Amino acid sequence: MPGEPPTSRSGSTESAPELGLSRRTFIGAMGAGAAALSAGGAISSCAYVHEPGAPAEGAITSMIKRGTGEFMLPPDLVYMNNGSLGPTSVSAFDAAMRAWRDVQSDPVVQAWGPVLKQAERALATAADYLACGVDELAVTRNTTEGMNLVAQGINLQPGDAVLTTDHEHAGGSLCWRHVQKYRGVRIDDVTLPVPANDADEIMRRFERAITPQTKVISVSHVTYTTGMKLPITHLAQLAEAHDCLLIVDGAQGPGAMHVNMRDLRCHAYATSAHKWLLAPMGTGLLYLRKDVQDRIAPMMLAQGMRVYTGASGTRDLPAIVGMGAAIDFMRDKGVERVAQHAMTLRNDLYARCAALPNVEVASPGRSQLASPLVTLRLPPSVNHAGLARRLHDRHRIVVKVLSHPALKGIRISSHVYNTADHVDQLVRALRAELS
Ligand SMILES: Cc1ncc(COP(=O)(O)O)c(C=O)c1O
Repeated sequence: MPGEPPTSRSGSTESAPELGLSRRTFIGAMGAGAAALSAGGAISSCAYVHEPGAPAEGAITSMIKRGTGEFMLPPDLVYMNNGSLGPTSVSAFDAAMRAWRDVQSDPVVQAWGPVLKQAERALATAADYLACGVDELAVTRNTTEGMNLVAQGINLQPGDAVLTTDHEHAGGSLCWRHVQKYRGVRIDDVTLPVPANDADEIMRRFERAITPQTKVISVSHVTYTTGMKLPITHLAQLAEAHDCLLIVDGAQGPGAMHVNMRDLRCHAYATSAHKWLLAPMGTGLLYLRKDVQDRIAPMMLAQGMRVYTGASGTRDLPAIVGMGAAIDFMRDKGVERVAQHAMTLRNDLYARCAALPNVEVASPGRSQLASPLVTLRLPPSVNHAGLARRLHDRHRIVVKVLSHPALKGIRISSHVYNTADHVDQLVRALRAELS
């Protein structure tokens, strides 16, 4: 594939390419806690077993037939920004609306009766989908809320350090700035390469940056900037080895790929269901691993993780019911099939954009670091916001304008309702607008 570097630079007999991480780096990551970690089994048991590899080559088929009414997107709109906000499927929307009407028909009886039961079922559906216990998962409004709850719930002391990256979204980083300001906690940043193509190198950077003061490692599962998927399983081992907590901002994870809490082994994971899970706006999930719930204890969860408790209060139950239906929709389509579809579109887009003049693809090449997000860096002379506006107004294509100190460009996300034609349309529109 033109412009796509190999998965790993190491090519030695020590490499474990199925992990996208060499054996040497892996063992290095284990550090002082090697003995404890080895109890977890051989290296292969830590492979990205639930993360889909590169999809098979082949025709890109549409997963949604136009005109069948599965989404409310107008047929002429090419929506490629569910990384910001996903459209809700009609089935999820209808489920939410039915619950909303039920609440209106007899508010207290319905809301603390059948509708609450439906919302609790939605939480159980989400726990099953993420492969965690229902007593390890709380409903939130979004990733930001989940990350705030975690940061607030850890008893960090002056002098403690949080290790994070320079590619975190405000929703996953301002919470740590807050504890920095009010509790005297230090923040250390790992600089991520752009583009990143070597998981070994990422792990080496974390190993170099971790210190005895590090109490928390906080990273995105998939960065909002380049769509780089971090090696979470290995970071979890690094965290365990140094007795610190691994907190994951998973806003760009579930729905874009199969995400399984048991395999990821992080201590906390916050996500927004209204992005890749295509759930109603204002729904999110927070996973707190059972064995660390005494170390991460936010006030809002003081009475447990159920949908309603005295500590969490009354909330938007119809949206939560819609979230459960959105997860059912994804499962009906096939979680792996959806992920493969998104990756196939992404690989096509990557290859074709890499061949465009004046366009640099800032996302990882075809490796374990790749996700369905593709970010294009454009020459400084291009006004990104203006380009996105023209793509929308002239070509009916929606993308995200990315404005990060290290990376300005446009970001494209493809999902179940996108097709090979959409990739074609975007490439043609970029050619026209950038010529
Ligand atoms: C990586 C990441 N974290 C956090 C957020 C914030 O999400 P929300 O506004 O749903 O809390 C986003 C939003 O795009 C994101 O991409």
